[in-house]
Amino acid sequence: MHWTGLVLASWLLVVTVSLDNGLMRTPPMGWLAWERFRCNVDCEHDPKNCISEKLFTDMADRLAEDGWRELGYVYVNIDDCWSSMQRDQQGRLQADPKRFPGGIRRLSRYMHDRGLKLGIYGDMGTHTCGGYPGTPLDKIEVDAQTFAEWEVDILKLDGCYSNATVQAQGYPRMSKALNATGRPIAYSCSWPAYQGGLPPKVDYSLLAKICNLWRNYDDIQDSWTSVLNIVDWFFDNQDVLIAAAGPGRWNDPDMLIIGNFGLSLEQSRSQMALWSIMAAPLYMSNDLRTIGSSARSILQNKMAIKINQDPLGLQGRRILKEKSNIQVFWRPLCNDTSALVFFSRRDDMPYRYQTSLSKLNYTTGSYKIYDVFSGKTMILKDSISFVVSVNPSGVVMWYVSAPAKSRTLARKFSSNDRLEGFFRGYFANAVPQVFL
Ligand code: GLA
Repeated sequence: MHWTGLVLASWLLVVTVSLDNGLMRTPPMGWLAWERFRCNVDCEHDPKNCISEKLFTDMADRLAEDGWRELGYVYVNIDDCWSSMQRDQQGRLQADPKRFPGGIRRLSRYMHDRGLKLGIYGDMGTHTCGGYPGTPLDKIEVDAQTFAEWEVDILKLDGCYSNATVQAQGYPRMSKALNATGRPIAYSCSWPAYQGGLPPKVDYSLLAKICNLWRNYDDIQDSWTSVLNIVDWFFDNQDVLIAAAGPGRWNDPDMLIIGNFGLSLEQSRSQMALWSIMAAPLYMSNDLRTIGSSARSILQNKMAIKINQDPLGLQGRRILKEKSNIQVFWRPLCNDTSALVFFSRRDDMPYRYQTSLSKLNYTTGSYKIYDVFSGKTMILKDSISFVVSVNPSGVVMWYVSAPAKSRTLARKFSSNDRLEGFFRGYFANAVPQVFL
C-alpha cells in the first residue's frame, strides 16, 4: 500500500470511535437562540425579539450578509418554545402556527438557500424545560422522522422532565432513530448535564459513540460570574473531559454571550480565547442585528477561529494556576503549532507575568509568536525570559508556530518595525536578549 493509503487507513481506524455519521469533524459554529431570546413568545408586543420565523430569518440574513458564514458560522439553531402546545392529529410535533406560519420546513429551506444549516430543539422527557411537548420514549422514532422530513441539520435533545433510566434508554435510541432516517442530522445531547457531568454516572465513551456533542454542565447566563463558573468546572475536570473530545465528539460549555450585556471587552476576549482552547462549539447567542463592532471583531477573529477549528481536534488544558492569579492554558494544534492563553483572574490592574517558553514545556528552539488579539508577531527563543501584560479578567492569546530557522528570521525581524513595537510592548523590563 502506498504510504498515503496507510495514513488514510489509520485515520479511518481512529475516526470510527466517534458517532459514525461523519458530521462535525471540527466544533460546530453558528447561532443559537436561547441565552439571548429565551422563551419570549409575546410576538404581539415584542415582534422583533419573540421566538418566531422572523427572528431566525433575520439572524440568517445577518450571518449570510455580514461575513459570518464565510468564517464558518453556519448553524442557525432554534431552541425551546418553538412548538405548538399540542401534537397534531397524527401525533407529530408541529411548530406554533402563528409564530412559524411557514412551519419548520420553510425555515430549513431558507437556511439551505443561503448556505446555512438549521437546528431544532427537543427534550428527552414528557415536556421541554419551558413546558412544551417533549419526546417521551414512544415518540422517538416519529420525532426523528419529522425532523428529517423538515430537513433539519442538528437536533439538540434536552433532558427536562425525565429521569436517569429514561435518559439511558432514550438518548441512544434517538441516535439510532436519527441515523435510520438516512438524513445526516448532527446530535447534541444534554444527557451528561442532567447526570452531574462526570463518571461513573456519565459514560463518555458511550456518548462519543452516540452524540456529536454534549452539554456537560450548567446553562450559561449573561454574566462574567457564570462564565467563570463554567470555565472553572471544565478545567477542574479537564482530564476526564479532554479524553472524551475529538473530531465528531465535543464537550459543550454552552453558548458565547459576547455582544450581550454581561461581559466587558476584556471578558469577551477571555470567553473567545478559552472557548477556542477548549475546542468548544462556537454558538453565539446574541443579537446579530445590533451587535457592536468590538464584539463583532472578537467573534470574527480569524486566528481564534482557526485555533478553535484545528483539524486535530484535541481539547486544550490548563497547565498552570499561579499564586499571582494568572492561569496559563495550552492547546496542541496541527503541524507542530500550538496555542497559549495567559488569563488574569485578578481585579486590580494589568499584571506583568514573567515566564519563558521552556518553563511552559516548549522544547529547545525558536518559535514564531502571533498575538491573536493584537495581530503582532515576533520570534521567541525557548530559553528567553519574557513578560506579558495581562489585564484584569482579560487574556493574552498566542498562536505559536514550530521552531523556525534562526538566520532568516533575524533578517526578517530587523526589517520589520511592527515587530520592534511588539518587542517594546512585551519586553519593556525583561531580559534584553530576546531575538536570535
Ligand atoms: C435547558 C437547557 C438550555 C435551554 C433551556 C430551554 O435549561 O440547558 O440550554 O435549552 O433548557 O428551556
